[in-house]
Amino acid sequence: MQEIKTTGGTTHKELDAWVKEVAAHVRPDEVVWIDGSDEENERINNLLVEAGTFTKLAEDKKPNSYHALSDPQDVARVEDQTYICSTEEKDAGPTNNWMDPEQMKAKLWPLFEGSMQGRTMYVIPFVMGHLEAEDPKFGVEITDSAYVVASMRIMARIGRKILSRMEETDAVYVKGLHSVGAPLVAEDGQDVRDVPWPCNETKYIVHFPEELAIWSYGSGYGGNALLGKKCYALRIASVMARDEGWMAEHMLILKLTSPEGEVHYIAGAFPSACGKTNLAMIEPTIPGWKAELVGDDISWMRFGPDGRLYAVNPEFGLFGVAPGTGRDTNPVAIETIEQGNSIFTNVARTPDGDVWWEGMTQEKPAELIDWHGQKWTPDSDQLSSHPNSRFCTPINQVPNIAAEYEDPRGVPISAIMFGGRRKTTVPLVTESRDWQHATFIASTLSSETTAAATGAVGVVRRDPMAMLPFMGYNASDYFAHWLQIGKQADAAKLPKVFLVNWFRRDEDGGFLWPGFGENSRVLKWMVDRIEGRVDAQESPIGLLPMPQDIDTDGLDTSTEDVTKALAFDPEEWRAELPLIRDWFDKFGADLPGALEDELATLEQRLTEE
Ligand code: GDP
Ligand code: PGA
Ligand code: MN
Ligand code: MN
Repeated sequence: MQEIKTTGGTTHKELDAWVKEVAAHVRPDEVVWIDGSDEENERINNLLVEAGTFTKLAEDKKPNSYHALSDPQDVARVEDQTYICSTEEKDAGPTNNWMDPEQMKAKLWPLFEGSMQGRTMYVIPFVMGHLEAEDPKFGVEITDSAYVVASMRIMARIGRKILSRMEETDAVYVKGLHSVGAPLVAEDGQDVRDVPWPCNETKYIVHFPEELAIWSYGSGYGGNALLGKKCYALRIASVMARDEGWMAEHMLILKLTSPEGEVHYIAGAFPSACGKTNLAMIEPTIPGWKAELVGDDISWMRFGPDGRLYAVNPEFGLFGVAPGTGRDTNPVAIETIEQGNSIFTNVARTPDGDVWWEGMTQEKPAELIDWHGQKWTPDSDQLSSHPNSRFCTPINQVPNIAAEYEDPRGVPISAIMFGGRRKTTVPLVTESRDWQHATFIASTLSSETTAAATGAVGVVRRDPMAMLPFMGYNASDYFAHWLQIGKQADAAKLPKVFLVNWFRRDEDGGFLWPGFGENSRVLKWMVDRIEGRVDAQESPIGLLPMPQDIDTDGLDTSTEDVTKALAFDPEEWRAELPLIRDWFDKFGADLPGALEDELATLEQRLTEE
């Protein structure tokens, strides 16, 4: 067989063999091992500009930054094409798509055949979490997308240093195979002209958890294509975590310091596009409180030697929802992206080489190039930016990043929040009674769907632990794992768990609670609860704040609205019961009895109310 031109390589024999096997099958023009250097990054960025994928932004606006527009068919995660291919169907559970692994491979391997013809095959060694971790979690992504290379460089620790460590330790790693599925040679041998955003109508995002393998085909966007993120750090890692006794969660991590100097680390799980990145970057509006960012999307948690739960952020960058991000709502994000070194995808471009999106400024620019590449003016009846448009930016540019971000031991978590978008029913904040109740609240978490995944937007669905699209195994087992974590620990050392909802609406559809920086008032109440400074009132759904304990000093929202945001309405909750019942019915006898008990208790308390 003819050798394919290759730049770089490895002494890790098994990795070398896998890369060669894949190359022989996908038949790229050349193979390039990614070393992570600045020169290499410049080369990749220039290639992307030449290909028309990237437009360089003005140096005086966003230095070293690029604008990309995807194919309009490739703008979000494709949950209906995402599979967990465990050997046993039961291990994928009722919430995941499943296919027998051999059958899936028989279907996909032919799609990969020749899929990289005319393209470069990049090999990206990476680690999720710290290279200095006790048990570093390695991965290698093979991809034919230079956009993926440029994005992975921001989102994960990649390159030569990682590969060297893998070689030294003959490391086990997750094998990620990604192709946009757009070869530049047609079946009849004719050359095909490339497009700025190659992709394929056929898309598959497939996980083989037992083999630590991910095959992703047809999409170049976000969680479908940057395999370190959702595919590895959540789906595959959740399986590792189940087997090794830790947790891989869809959570932000925030460091909060009170005026008294008390430090608390708070994690928060919200479904995609429901406020994690914003909360992780919060600028508290109440005097004397300080917030610093540890993570904005993914949290790996394990017990420390002191019996507390410690969390690390396995990522290296932020992949944030652009629309709604402005100086008023999220000044920290604006300061972060202003430093440049970022990729902006599916937002609008200004004539002077900057980016803009809905919510960045109150006043709309007079003229833009919208996310379809068309001229846009404020009179246009279309959004300038896709609702799931994103900024991809290095985390170490965040001005208030916590120093602990670099600590491989992680940070001890005092509280976990669960939240979602609910127009009704779910109060601003509720505290769980204990870990079992917390697991019940988390397992029945619900939210209106968003543009972060393809499909209808605004439909209420259960999204347990905000992990519905990311659980790498059977949800019943996942709930059991949560309950088990609680049993493993001293109850006093476990985080307190809260349910929050920033998105409750009034009759006219307006938000009852102003959100963003004002959410610090809710965080303050949580800290008061952790420190034992305030009481709470019992209710059928958990512990509610005494109204006077939510600090509303200087809040520009009517008392009536705050009261409505905080209210527990038994009628609304009675209407919720059949929905929870339906959800639990999905799991049949596999559902842990403890959760069944919690539902029965809730039903009973609501009947007595
Ligand atoms: P993530 O995808 O969970 O990280 O969510 P983001 O923090 O990126 O937020 C998604 C969208 O929700 C953005 O458009 C935000 O502007 C909006 N958002 C975030 N936090 C709040 C909040 O507290 N209140 C309201 N009304 N909107 C919010
Ligand atoms: P998000 O991350 O949670 O910040 O939206 C991307 C995703 O979950 O798809
Ligand atoms: Mn996410
Ligand atoms: Mn986010």
